[in-house]
Amino acid sequence: MAENIKNAERVIHQINVALKYLEGDILPALGMDNVESEMLLGIKILEAQENERKRIARDIHDGPAQYIANAVMRVDFCKRIIEKNIDEGLKELFELKEILKRALKEVRDIIFDLRPMSLDDLGLNQTIHELVKSITQDHDLIINLKLKPVKDEIEPIIQVAVFRIVQEILNNVKKHSKAKNVEIKLDYGLKYLMLVVNDDGIGFDVEKTLDEVKKRGESFGLLGIMERVKQLQGDIHIESKRGIGTTFKIKLPVNRKVLKDEGEN
Ligand SMILES: Nc1ncnc2c1ncn2[C@@H]1O[C@H](COP(=O)(O)OP(=O)(O)OP(=O)(O)O)[C@@H](O)[C@H]1O
Ligand SMILES: [Mg+2]
Repeated sequence: MAENIKNAERVIHQINVALKYLEGDILPALGMDNVESEMLLGIKILEAQENERKRIARDIHDGPAQYIANAVMRVDFCKRIIEKNIDEGLKELFELKEILKRALKEVRDIIFDLRPMSLDDLGLNQTIHELVKSITQDHDLIINLKLKPVKDEIEPIIQVAVFRIVQEILNNVKKHSKAKNVEIKLDYGLKYLMLVVNDDGIGFDVEKTLDEVKKRGESFGLLGIMERVKQLQGDIHIESKRGIGTTFKIKLPVNRKVLKDEGEN
């Protein structure tokens, strides 16, 4: 594995060098350190994607796959019981149904995590409502939602971005913040939307943390949020104070046409 990564690094490095050369960039001006750390980050992102697949496989294996295997065994058991005692058989059937219901819920959770279908049917606001509902079911967190009505249609790619950003911010709130209250505000303009998420947790040193996660290349939550915003040419501002809490302010275009139009002006 380590050897493969090294080889891949070398190849990517060579391609990078060749590309820069073809583009006419002056290599030394780039500084080799920078090139190398960017390459390493690229590899780490690939690794993180692979880990994510592993996690999903494990979730399916440990959750629904177990329940379904159990249910299949119980069907045989049920058959035998029903032949002898109908009441016992009915009880077994009831339990079988409960197992299948649990499996179904876990499958739905995994699908929701991968790509909430409700984004297409119900839209962004409703999907955020669902996410918040499922979080507050399992966590002692009060989440106050202030979602304004959507003015114009939000392009699907932007909806997914906002959803993923809210998901990661809330993951971090659960994992790190010790917050009791969260407020999520989403306001839609004709061209841009504004997302503000605020928690009353322990806060953190934003600059220092970003520097560290870039160097370590192991955490991609904050970096992923920054990257999404950057790709969509939005703005992000993170303000955090120790003992007070953290606020994310994110501005994104409602579709890519906005960017094209603004670029032309
Ligand atoms: N709302 C928050 N409150 C307090 N600390 C936070 C908050 N959000 C992020 N942090 C700090 O920033 C660090 C980096 O967050 P990031 O999401 O990039 O990584 P992670 O959550 O540790 O790992 P990953 O997201 O890859 O699972 C966290 O380890 C935590 O120390
Ligand atoms: Mg995180």
